[in-house]
Amino acid sequence: MKLDTLPARAISTSLPFDTLAAQPADALLSLIALYRADARPQKIDLGVGVFRNDAGDTPVMRAVKAAEAVLLETQVTKSYLGAEGDAAYTALLAEIVFGDRTAGERLNGVQTPGGTGALRLGAELLARAGREAQVWIGTPTWPNHAPIFAEAGLSTRSHRFQDAASGGIDFEAMLDDLADAHPGDILLLHGCCHNPTGSAFTSEQWRAVADLCAARGLIPFVDLAYQGLGDGLDEDAAATRMIFDALPTALVAYSCDKNFGLYRERVGALWVLSATNTIADRVRTNMLSLARSLWSMPPDHGAAIVRTILENDALRADWRDELDAMRARLNGLRAALAATHPRLSAIADQRGMFAMLPLTPEAVAALREEDGIYMAGNGRINIAGLRADTVPVFAQALRPHLEALNGHA
Ligand code: LMR
Repeated sequence: MKLDTLPARAISTSLPFDTLAAQPADALLSLIALYRADARPQKIDLGVGVFRNDAGDTPVMRAVKAAEAVLLETQVTKSYLGAEGDAAYTALLAEIVFGDRTAGERLNGVQTPGGTGALRLGAELLARAGREAQVWIGTPTWPNHAPIFAEAGLSTRSHRFQDAASGGIDFEAMLDDLADAHPGDILLLHGCCHNPTGSAFTSEQWRAVADLCAARGLIPFVDLAYQGLGDGLDEDAAATRMIFDALPTALVAYSCDKNFGLYRERVGALWVLSATNTIADRVRTNMLSLARSLWSMPPDHGAAIVRTILENDALRADWRDELDAMRARLNGLRAALAATHPRLSAIADQRGMFAMLPLTPEAVAALREEDGIYMAGNGRINIAGLRADTVPVFAQALRPHLEALNGHA
């Protein structure tokens, strides 16, 4: 039958996809295009979270380039690896995350497409284990967190943790909100370098979080996306390690985007600690079957780069050196920006790529339109987007907006 002779009843009045509501573009990713379209030479990009050097570039790290050369020479096949990805990559990365502790067969790890893939795989695993569990997420957080869990069919609840006046931690408010959590609920935690606030729990507060999870039967799910960009590789993993030592069940979603500069290669991993070996066996089969239906197998190239770096002492040492320099640059910029205005002083003690400025949405829009300064709508800035010479320029543009806050104080 020819298409134009199809009977009229075949043409439905409700067209496919007609029920879909249009979705807003991702606000963070939209900043990339907005910034590119701005012709002003003095524009400053403090938007999406990518590391930048003093020239404003996001270079391929030296060890990554060297590892790519090794792979070009030595890789003999691109045949399938399977749903777990590159097991040698996951094992080597586990040493960076967990140090020399071994959880034995209770700990399962698989390679994932980025930290987002790890979060989504963990969310799907938790949803498959029971949809009545709620996911508790501190506000503010990375805007993709809640959608990842919601799309997996889990309900999300938000809890406070930030003291609005100081920008620091309000731990009492967090504990008050979590009094509503039920056994089996999930508590999402930023392992280090909080996105967007840069603020951190003290080690006593982390210990109290672990005690709360143990006492109330909550499952901690650590998002560790910036290891090495706060205080150091071991320092930035300390909270995650303590949580995994203290609790029978925990998850960690890991990203190599920032600390290996592999953003678009999508390199991550999910580790799940289970209470017993028997449960861990079942968890592993579920992780693999979910991964198989979500993406079948993770992309190989980025993970092969990380494996090549971590299995070669010289490349590993060079990667650590460059990571140390990246961290020093971030913390130097933090100190310089913090010194420009009393309202910004907390930034010096915060860590990671981000800080959240006390700006209204109108001020954020004015800075973009009048000064060519791009940041997330909630006032989050990517510290790495600054340079020694643009810190004073940025501080001057900020000053009237910060003074306006003083007027309202
Ligand atoms: C960010 O928060 O800017 C980055 O993690 C990039 C992203 O995927 O949102």
